[in-house]
Amino acid sequence: MKMTDFEPARYVARRRRLAAAVAEGVAVLPTAPERVRNRDSHYPYRFDSHFWYLSGFAEPEAVLVIVAGKEPRSLLFCRERSAEREIWDGFRHGPEAACERFGFDAAYPIAALDEQMPKLLAEQPALHYPVGVDPAWDGRAMKWLNAVREQARAGVAAPQRLHDVRALLDEMRLLKDAGELGVMRHAATISAAAHRRAMQATRAGRFEYEIEAELLYEFRRRGAQFPAYWPIVAGGANACVLHYVSNNAALRDGDLLLIDAGCELDGYAADITRTFPVSRRFSPAQRDVYELVLEAQRAAMSRVRAGRRWNEPHEAAVRVLAQGMLDLKLLAGSLDEALEKETYKRFYMHRTGHWLGLDVHDTGDYKLAGEWRALVAGMTLTVEPGLYIRAADDVPEALRDIGVRIEDDVLVTDGECEVLTAAAPKSIADLEALMRDVA
Ligand code: GLY
Ligand code: MN
Ligand code: MN
Repeated sequence: MKMTDFEPARYVARRRRLAAAVAEGVAVLPTAPERVRNRDSHYPYRFDSHFWYLSGFAEPEAVLVIVAGKEPRSLLFCRERSAEREIWDGFRHGPEAACERFGFDAAYPIAALDEQMPKLLAEQPALHYPVGVDPAWDGRAMKWLNAVREQARAGVAAPQRLHDVRALLDEMRLLKDAGELGVMRHAATISAAAHRRAMQATRAGRFEYEIEAELLYEFRRRGAQFPAYWPIVAGGANACVLHYVSNNAALRDGDLLLIDAGCELDGYAADITRTFPVSRRFSPAQRDVYELVLEAQRAAMSRVRAGRRWNEPHEAAVRVLAQGMLDLKLLAGSLDEALEKETYKRFYMHRTGHWLGLDVHDTGDYKLAGEWRALVAGMTLTVEPGLYIRAADDVPEALRDIGVRIEDDVLVTDGECEVLTAAAPKSIADLEALMRDVA
């Protein structure tokens, strides 16, 4: 994120909402650790999503502490400025500048955390933190609690309750605010441009990794920091491997190419899948499968609106796909039988979507008290039906090794859903036209 675009008020408001939800006690949210890839090389740093959601602070070695109550306070513990370390690793805000810029009530050096926490927890009824995520943090939290308990004879009360703060945050993050939606629309636009670039770069004889390189180039060129997950670039039969990421095969004339790729922009993911012919024209059998998946996606999207249950889009997609499998002679028997015995799962084995946000499979429960939850305006999710026909003796020959998925990102509204990824072509006419435009 360009720091000139940074609006601390959004993060201050989220911290207040968390403080209100916590009601009493102290909430502690550490960011993610830096991770070594090998020897002295680190993986590119990615902050913790919950921490980022509440702070907008991208540096490692930082911890957010929210003291709930009538006058809630937000404290940041972060790295101190260091002339020496900044020569090697670059700029650090330091507590003073971070406090000011990110709208905290106070900030301290990260090295002071273990000394400060027992003081902050004294006379507090509860400690809220991500329980059980990292044994080192669990151990640290216990040390803080024991340090307060040691003061019992001096009349100091220690927290008696421990809560997992993630449950509250998971629910908060499910409804996106205007700032988040702005970033998500932008991430979707960048990702759609990358898919268009990939379509135009595709030819028989190129390798899947060459197309992967086009995707990554377009993400980064447009300012996205990372791919939101490793791109799947799967030609022909590879499309039937759901998590195919080796991306090392040659593209063949007559095959389809399935690309599942989305960028991460300022922490927010896009997640798009498109499937199109390597040599620009669909075969009749590929066309049949493609149109079927597209129809399933239309059916699913028409059920994405406020008030509908989470499972309705999936059920609509499954119905269309199962009927199509019968029509294509992939399955025998009746539609009711296919649905009841779930025989369609041989060719459609995943669900039709997931929440989308800071995490590509974002937070939030899909069921509440055992019932599929109702969609609410402001939720964002993917709609991604597919059909994966592995070669087998009982499969009509023309359909063997065809894998198709079509995936878009949508925002729930009170009317029709908003398709954030509409700039990625998907009708057969639009796909063929885009690929014709290539010299
Ligand atoms: N790209 C991950 C998914 O579609 O769920
Ligand atoms: Mn997805
Ligand atoms: Mn995907």
